Amino acid sequence: MTVVGIHDLSIATASRFLDLALLAERAGIDPDKYRIGLGQDQMSVPAPDEDIVTMAAAAAMPIVERHGASGIRTVLFATESGVDQSKSAAVFVHELLGLDPATRVVELKQACYSATAALQFALGIVARQPEESVLVIAADVARYAVDTAAEPTQGAGAVAMLVTQDPAIAEVEPATGIHTADVDDFWRPNDSDTAVVNGKLSIDAYLDAFVGAWDDYRARGGAAIESIDYFCHHQPFTRMAVKAHQRLAVHTGAALTPAQMESTTRYNRRLGNSYTASLYFALAALLDGEDDLTDRRVGMYSYGSGSIGEFFSLRIRPGYRTALRTEATKRILDSREPLDVDAYRALHAAHSASSEVDREIAPTSPAPFHFIGVQGRARRYARTDA
Ligand code: COA
Repeated sequence: MTVVGIHDLSIATASRFLDLALLAERAGIDPDKYRIGLGQDQMSVPAPDEDIVTMAAAAAMPIVERHGASGIRTVLFATESGVDQSKSAAVFVHELLGLDPATRVVELKQACYSATAALQFALGIVARQPEESVLVIAADVARYAVDTAAEPTQGAGAVAMLVTQDPAIAEVEPATGIHTADVDDFWRPNDSDTAVVNGKLSIDAYLDAFVGAWDDYRARGGAAIESIDYFCHHQPFTRMAVKAHQRLAVHTGAALTPAQMESTTRYNRRLGNSYTASLYFALAALLDGEDDLTDRRVGMYSYGSGSIGEFFSLRIRPGYRTALRTEATKRILDSREPLDVDAYRALHAAHSASSEVDREIAPTSPAPFHFIGVQGRARRYARTDA
């Protein structure tokens, strides 16, 4: 059987960040509530010329540079924060990266989950056409209203993955467990650019879907708990992954240890919530953070409010370290510009999804791709390093 999975993985985020200790201070809250209670240190904040498209293109560009564009025949763009109700964000990325016109592009939506659907769909395409590769991109900007409990769980980021046969990083194993239930825990109506959320309900729905997905995974031939070495969980805030890990230990009766998931939180603690990308940032942190994962099995739990949970597993490939981008990721995270609370709040207030009036946006962020404004109701993007 053809082995299919993740051949390359590359990240991007917004160019600015807010230290959550500053937000806690402004709100008169003990900073440990965010640092320990939520497990969050910082959150990435987009500049006016940054959005899901610019982050997605920046994440995918190094993949295209390393492998060339010729094998890529499909781009699957997973996001909660789409920039158009009709046109796929993948079309913009396709143009910015100069991909071949003979490329299938589409956008997928289901809150924070759709990157996992995209990955599963990609595996199907590659299994059927092993000479093709699929570019899967997860990119999101998590936006909640200011002065709410959810405000410290915002963030932004993108993960691009190349899915191929004979992958360099990880095989995606065939068994998968799914749990879908109609729950009003988080959603974003068409007329709102911030999410509506019932935070406590979302935590319960996340954990209920986890148990349901795990049971389905096992019933469909998934690996026994003892043979899973590490766990990556969706991380809307990293403490949520700890809660999930503890719930799985109780549910299965297994003696799971914190060391099986601790290194997965390292990037998300600094990025904040990146919705669809968050699980794959957890994977990046695990791959970069552990010395040798060769032949290790990694359990992956994906959750999207509304709701669906999916549990599946990866097997890490021999020689995977040569494909990693650990130094580039460190550079991207370390080079973000710090904001104070007033500057972050000003950016939050200035955000506009409106297309009613033409506007130009100066390409000020250091990233290679920029949202440069709206013209004739259409969004315009540019590459400035070309
Ligand atoms: N030091 C350490 N921990 C502290 C603390 C302090 N000084 N003060 C509070 N905490 C802990 C609380 O005990 C709690 O821990 P627990 O979950 O183990 O009980 C945690 O910090 C959060 O505080 P709490 O008051 O329960 O929640 P909140 O009202 O601040 O809201 C969310 C937290 C996550 C519900 C809110 O941020 C939210 O709605 N986020 C968006 C939705 C989301 O991310 N959902 C996740 C599933 S998809």
